[in-house]
Amino acid sequence: MTPNPALDAGEDPRVAAFEARIAAGESIEPKDWMPERYRKQLIRMMSQHAHSEVVGMLPEGNWITRAPSLRRKMSLIAKVQDEGGHGLYIYCGTETLGVDRQELVEQLLNGTAKYSSIFNYPTLSWADMGVIGWLVDGAAIVNQTILAKTSYGPYARAMIRICKEENFHKRQGYEIVATLAKGTPAQKAMVQDAVNRWWWPSLMMFGPSDTDSPNSGELLRWKVKRKTNDELRQRFVNLTIPQVQAVGLTVPDPDLRYDAATENWLFGPIDWAEFNEVIRGNGPCNKERLAARREAHEAGQWVREAATAYAAKHERRSTEAA
Ligand SMILES: [Fe+2]
Ligand SMILES: [Fe+2]
Repeated sequence: MTPNPALDAGEDPRVAAFEARIAAGESIEPKDWMPERYRKQLIRMMSQHAHSEVVGMLPEGNWITRAPSLRRKMSLIAKVQDEGGHGLYIYCGTETLGVDRQELVEQLLNGTAKYSSIFNYPTLSWADMGVIGWLVDGAAIVNQTILAKTSYGPYARAMIRICKEENFHKRQGYEIVATLAKGTPAQKAMVQDAVNRWWWPSLMMFGPSDTDSPNSGELLRWKVKRKTNDELRQRFVNLTIPQVQAVGLTVPDPDLRYDAATENWLFGPIDWAEFNEVIRGNGPCNKERLAARREAHEAGQWVREAATAYAAKHERRSTEAA
């Protein structure tokens, strides 16, 4: 595919054919022609998603050594490992768009790529492991269930597989929350404190409001996105509030109320100034997260070199044998 930005502006007949395929509900595959802008938007979205999976291992990895029982430790290790797998899977998907994973990783490490704002908040107590699984993975499921119908085939297929694991993550989180919520007063206070800290950042995970989301229009037209940020956020709130009530907890929102006419749980204003600060790199843990990724990347240098040498040796042997 030779990109031609001038033609992508709308003069190229291939654009009309491409858009007709999207309108007919067909999925776009790596070898199909696509507008350069579609490719770029997908690389941006998918690489941000992959980075988020990998950086998302850090806040929870922090608690593996302090899990309160062997069962909890095993579940948490499995979850964190799954997130690493999701990252690798989506990096592979992104490579089908003609970009090298190394390039994407460098963008993460040099701070030019974004990842989900949520992972820049600290994990202060064991209850955070429950609340992250429940709210953060729960928000990810709402987002990713819709992404499973995205127009780019490799991304859609990755989401179907990943959502199955995300459901396990959410359940293990909610189980921790439910256990603490019916525990001692101190345990209940600890889990309520975790909900208070994670509630608003979880709502911010869906991204800027539709009125302030520069990429949404195009992404919706090309069916990369199937629902707007605000629609997904509302769906998440509607699904979650009954779960909050079921375990006798509350969310830190004095404006929350049920609107019978629309059947929505209406919520108060989101602090977008906080969101923008975190996105700009000034959240509580941005520097710590990137430092941890850089350290891991440097420490893994010998593994990459060994794997490359091993692959070269095998290729040489199979060439000699042939
Ligand atoms: Fe994940
Ligand atoms: Fe997850």
